Amino acid sequence: MEEHLTVGRVAELAGVSVRTLHHYDEIGLVQPSARTSAGYRAYSAGDVERLREVLAYRRLGFGLREIADLVDDPHTDAVAHLHRLRGLLLDQRDRAAAMVTAIDRELEARAMGIRTTPQQQLEVFGAQLYEAIGSAYPATRRTEPRIAAQVWGALGDARTVLNVGAGTGSYEPPDREVTAVEPSAVMRAQRPAGAAPCVAATAEKLPFADRSFDAAMAFSTVHHWQDPIAGLREMRRVARRVVVFTHDDSETGWLHRFWLTRDYLPEVAGLVAGRPSVDRLADAIGARLEPVLIPWDCADGFLEAYWRRPEAYLEEHVRRAVSVWTRVGPQAEQRAVERLREDLASGRWAERNRELVGLDAAELGLRLLVA
Ligand SMILES: C[S@@+](CC[C@H](N)C(=O)[O-])C[C@H]1O[C@@H](n2cnc3c(N)ncnc32)[C@H](O)[C@@H]1O
Repeated sequence: MEEHLTVGRVAELAGVSVRTLHHYDEIGLVQPSARTSAGYRAYSAGDVERLREVLAYRRLGFGLREIADLVDDPHTDAVAHLHRLRGLLLDQRDRAAAMVTAIDRELEARAMGIRTTPQQQLEVFGAQLYEAIGSAYPATRRTEPRIAAQVWGALGDARTVLNVGAGTGSYEPPDREVTAVEPSAVMRAQRPAGAAPCVAATAEKLPFADRSFDAAMAFSTVHHWQDPIAGLREMRRVARRVVVFTHDDSETGWLHRFWLTRDYLPEVAGLVAGRPSVDRLADAIGARLEPVLIPWDCADGFLEAYWRRPEAYLEEHVRRAVSVWTRVGPQAEQRAVERLREDLASGRWAERNRELVGLDAAELGLRLLVA
């Protein structure tokens, strides 16, 4: 015979009151299918499964009426509920992590005597920060070996390397002694087991003595820094050699050269306005500039990576791993994606970008600063 659990036992196991279970029974949400000989409610395995779904949706903040609709849906079986719950819980976890990061940032800023603006404080609740933290990052962002070879070559014979704005550890050379610096708790938490030790700090205030490292590198991060020039000078101070991967965001270098920013996302111009030019960054540390070509099948999903694979930008997970898409706001993002979708379907994109099809690598304004 099927084993049943008494209402008291179920309440104890689930950490809810017997009163709650009685209420769920009365409103028809979870009705135990049997009674004990003494007349107490008794829950079958099926009843417990339904209760588990109800409690999980409840914890996610759904109202009882919404939950009733969800668990009564004849098209959703237990496995489908588990998949849906899993997705919702991961989403909630990412949002919580984003808020922790926002709070860490604000605490850090306050400790440095910087007051955040009302806009910055409210971003915690908006989409911008949710994205900015990078819980979506590891899905598409990883070391591109051909670009890594150029970066590692520029590091020369450096044995000790500081990686500033290290994120999840992409491009950290495996054959040198690496120390990472990363201000975001979410990014630090996503560093793989065995990755280089990581210090919570910002580029602008590196907690190291002068000339502590043979080289300092920074990959795809300078545009996030509050004060890029101060950060680069700090790198210069703590290391004999500095290698920085960034982009030339002047009109000729980048905005107009790449079809995505030129034809679909002109709003990016507003984001880079007022930021120091790549030449100013180079001058600040006496660096030379090397172009970095992007292979057509680039493994690292940064903004320009899919220049010959335009369909990729229609994918939500591709866009979520690149902060620009959230920084331009949902309206611009949707408009850009819809226009691109239409142009791909009509053949207009292919017509306009005919010259790209035959290229194996593109020069889209990405630069290595080497000092
Ligand atoms: C686009 S990610 C790049 C991460 C990594 N370098 C990579 O290539 O995958 C930018 C990183 O810069 C970090 N960052 C933002 N502001 C910073 C600052 N002031 N100093 C150092 N890192 C910063 C972010 O937390 C984020 O991890």
